[in-house]
Amino acid sequence: MYFKQFLDEQCGCASYVVASRVSHDAVVVDPAAGVQQYQDLLEERGFRLTYVIDTHVHADHVSGARELCRRTGAELCLHSSAKVLYPFRPLHDGEDLEVGQLRLHVVHTPGHRPELISLLIVNPSRSPEPSMVLTGDSLLVGDVGRPDFGGGEASAQYESITRLLRLPDWVGVFPGHFEGPCGKGMCGRPSTTIGFERLYNPLLRLERGPFVSSLDGEVPARPLNMAAIEATNRGAADLAWAMPAGHQSVPMTDPKEAQDMGRALLLDVREPHEFESQHIKGAINIPQADIATQLDEIPREREIVVVCQGGGRSLRSAQFLKQVGYESVASLSGGTDAWVELGLPTEGSGQLADGPRIVETEWAHAGVSGS
Ligand SMILES: [Fe+2]
Repeated sequence: MYFKQFLDEQCGCASYVVASRVSHDAVVVDPAAGVQQYQDLLEERGFRLTYVIDTHVHADHVSGARELCRRTGAELCLHSSAKVLYPFRPLHDGEDLEVGQLRLHVVHTPGHRPELISLLIVNPSRSPEPSMVLTGDSLLVGDVGRPDFGGGEASAQYESITRLLRLPDWVGVFPGHFEGPCGKGMCGRPSTTIGFERLYNPLLRLERGPFVSSLDGEVPARPLNMAAIEATNRGAADLAWAMPAGHQSVPMTDPKEAQDMGRALLLDVREPHEFESQHIKGAINIPQADIATQLDEIPREREIVVVCQGGGRSLRSAQFLKQVGYESVASLSGGTDAWVELGLPTEGSGQLADGPRIVETEWAHAGVSGS
């Protein structure tokens, strides 16, 4: 057996190559958009790619699955319930995919998304039991995948996690993310075991009710350009340029300076319910998840100051605007919090937001953490 995990620092995603060293057949799971890295490895090791599997339709990064299949002739696989606009081999719960002597056993684990599958890896020449499980965004290290990415459901996630916890303690867990916005408390380690998570994952000690409340009540903000990325991965659009790339340099503006900028457009990239509750007077709201699909509403000829709650989301959004050619973009340091602290003018309902509490995550991407 051959196994390799690829970690993408830009989006916090993990992808996998699993191969038979006997037959030289290989499978790639959850490939990132940059597929050359997998092709280089396959060539170097003399592997033949038979299957490319997306554990689910991703909403936070563009999948390389179709491109990798196009280049290699491998078969593209998704769970049978996946609602995408291109052909694929439908996988079913309980099915085994053969990769040489290896078996990839499909377990349908909806919750983060309805079509999400986990893959148990069995090497029968070593053991009839699985040694590892690729969990996509079901069970994460120290966390579970959030349920609000398009048809996901916290109670389904509870069922799926309960099912995975029936696996033996020794089974290695290799998730689809090690950091990023798909969970709120990921540990940062790229793998774990069923036994360790059973003991120390705080969510796995909860009964169904508190588990569901915990998932529904608090989430990180939806990822930057989620709408464009998800539509691209469904085949409904071709907006791969919406993936944030690199760290563009963006000036920071403090609230006093921003107030003096007069004509500048204040672009608040928080979720609508956060904006409704309280926002800087005169600001407009385009959540970071919708920036790429609503770019037409952001004028290129005006100075733009991007705002969020504390300065994290606004920096990433401003970096993206730079990436797509906006010249005069700044990020408001300290965000709405700093503005309010100085007693500068705001508007909004003043009511507690009717929606999940948006939490900060310990995500170091782009040198910022949280929102
Ligand atoms: Fe996901």
